[in-house]
Amino acid sequence: ELPERVTLIEVGPRDGLQNEKNFINAKDKIHFISLLKNAGFQEMELTSFVSPKWVPQMQDAGTVIEHCMDDLRNFVLAPNKKGIDMAIEAGVKHIAVFVGVSDSFNKKNINKTTEESMNELRPLIEDLKRRGYFVRACISTSFYCPFEGKIDEHAVLKVCQDFEEMGVDELSVADTIGMANPIECFDLFTLLKHHLRSTTLITGHFHDTRGMALANIFASMQAGIDRFDTSAGGLGGCPFAPGASGNVASEDVVYMLSQMGISTGIQLDKLLEASAFISPLLSKPVSSKQFGLLKNV
Ligand code: HMG
Ligand code: MG
Repeated sequence: ELPERVTLIEVGPRDGLQNEKNFINAKDKIHFISLLKNAGFQEMELTSFVSPKWVPQMQDAGTVIEHCMDDLRNFVLAPNKKGIDMAIEAGVKHIAVFVGVSDSFNKKNINKTTEESMNELRPLIEDLKRRGYFVRACISTSFYCPFEGKIDEHAVLKVCQDFEEMGVDELSVADTIGMANPIECFDLFTLLKHHLRSTTLITGHFHDTRGMALANIFASMQAGIDRFDTSAGGLGGCPFAPGASGNVASEDVVYMLSQMGISTGIQLDKLLEASAFISPLLSKPVSSKQFGLLKNV
């Protein structure tokens, strides 16, 4: 049975822009975020506190946060103690940590093994939860790793259960390089739903490298998932995951769901205004189907 309502978490300002070659100045990032909020997103990844040497595009995280904080669920990503401290200092209330299930990817992305990252994060997350923060954990390479290939679903479950024990509120389970197929999505989310607490939010995060993200969302909904990370314009990709292209486009997901009678609370025309604003600032044009249709009329 499909959900009646689906929550979309807009990740364009973070995942969407982090790998973009042209530097987008903070003023434009802030305007992009305000257009997206205007389209109705209640949850969004605004930016990340990561090394400016590793990810130069996110170097203005502090400025972006200063101008974009409000009562919505504004996530800021942080991979380590330094990032979490910076987020707290900036007044962020919704913190997203990130870890890869596979060691080789996690090493490339945050220079630690998965276990080293989990050990660093455990006391930090427990402390955040004691202090009332909302914690989201983004779990990369939950299906395939660019270096290790197919990932065992029990390894994903283990990482999820460890995070659950630490008290995280949400698990965002990611197909980092867009290699999953709908059957794998159905199976993994069925397993996770079965073993994780019903109070833990589970979200699907699909990169669309091979054009399977919409089908993967459909299959995940059939397994009971009703939250998805999407990116305006289909922007995105992790700079340390060779072969990762953009996230599934928010506008294509909004269109599909609304045609299926599933509400998202997002206004498609306003969302397209956000994609239209960011498109000319990018090194390659926005590639969503809905944006393409808009340009042809
Ligand atoms: P390192 O070199 O091992 O770290 O990198 P370090 O502790 O030696 O620090 C190096 C420098 O970075 C130092 O500065 C630190 O102060 C600074 P320096 O002394 O050289 O001037 N630094 C920081 N600055 C700002 N914020 C911080 C921070 N930490 C240290 N939090 C590190 C380790 C984790 C920093 C680095 O590997 C890094 O920044 N990685 C981030 C990678 C990243 O952002 N990846 C993309 C996001 S994840 C993703 O896209 C996947 C997702 O979408 C799901 C999916 O699709 O799979 C979520
Ligand atoms: Mg991603």
